[in-house]
Amino acid sequence: MTLILGIETSCDETSAAVVEDGRVVHSNVVASQIDIHRRYGGVFPEVASRQHVLSISPVIEQAMADAGMEWGALAAVAVTYGPGLAGSLLVGVNAAKGLAFGLGLPLVGVNHIEAHIYGNWLAQESEPEFPLVCLVVSGGHSELILMAGHGQYRCLGGTLDDAAGEAFDKVGRLLGLPYPGGPSIQQAARNGSPAAFKLPRAWLPGSYDFSFSGVKTAVLHAVRKYQPDLDKAPVGNPQTPLLVRDLPVANLAASFQAAVVEVLVDKACRAAEEYRARTLLLAGGVAANESLREELRRQSPVSVRIPALEYCTDNAAMVACAGYYRLLAGQQAGWDLDVVPSQALTAIGR
Ligand code: KG4
Ligand code: ZN
Repeated sequence: MTLILGIETSCDETSAAVVEDGRVVHSNVVASQIDIHRRYGGVFPEVASRQHVLSISPVIEQAMADAGMEWGALAAVAVTYGPGLAGSLLVGVNAAKGLAFGLGLPLVGVNHIEAHIYGNWLAQESEPEFPLVCLVVSGGHSELILMAGHGQYRCLGGTLDDAAGEAFDKVGRLLGLPYPGGPSIQQAARNGSPAAFKLPRAWLPGSYDFSFSGVKTAVLHAVRKYQPDLDKAPVGNPQTPLLVRDLPVANLAASFQAAVVEVLVDKACRAAEEYRARTLLLAGGVAANESLREELRRQSPVSVRIPALEYCTDNAAMVACAGYYRLLAGQQAGWDLDVVPSQALTAIGR
């Protein structure tokens, strides 16, 4: 039995988890800063790192207490070192270094996108079969990754502009919905019609890349029809929901969500077919979207894996799991492990 303590502080969640053999989650504590950042309508990096400093020790202690584990039971400490916000990553990496050094344990550095992918190994009866294609959609990333085996990543496509979650967040602000936009749009869309507005889909034929700026601008134009002097209004002030009178928020939310989901699902399914994947995985914060989950399950030509909701948005259990497979491959980090705020997943492949 290999117990790994995972630590995640790449953005606005301080999280620590204890996971056995990359699968069995003994604890997964997540201290979210969403309530703090909501007043700014997005993550305020300096505030985020200060908050991580306050939360990191209590969160780690809580993860050990929830798991009912002694420090001596741990086999390694795994931590996210990039991509993410530099000041936030530094807090987790230094906490992990201190603990690993003090306890005489191996330190394992984990890429954040890799961790999201490994969320699909958690609390599952069996492992996903390779080769697999994974659609990673979060606040910072939209990527289609081909994996031939553990730690082997090939990027088939990525976003040319906004990440999928970023587009949800920006459109949420345009519609006067609270941050983060993803869950707010999903909620609003339940009462709307996806066919109400004809929004563009960037198919980018022959490519597995994505682009969401066109659909975002189309929503902006639609909102302007209801409030022509929108530029003068305090758009997206999260404390002033529903700024634009008579704005059909539910229909716009449903139409936007449908446009994004349609392209994501179509490209993921085509990639799975072209690369003869045995499994199609979904990962990242946007993987929590109910419409995306449903459509991917409905349309995939191969078997689909989607993490439980708690392992979609940022959490440390997924970091511990990715760290487990890195440890098995002998990929221990040195004490000089530094944060890499813009690290690409393909830069760490083996
Ligand atoms: O993975 P994550 O927690 O952080 C990053 O690594 O970026 O993803 C956060 C993103 C946010 O943009 C948020 O709006 C989006 O995931 N998100 C959703 C949903 N829940 C979270 N997007 C669409 N539908 C959701 N239900
Ligand atoms: Zn993330």
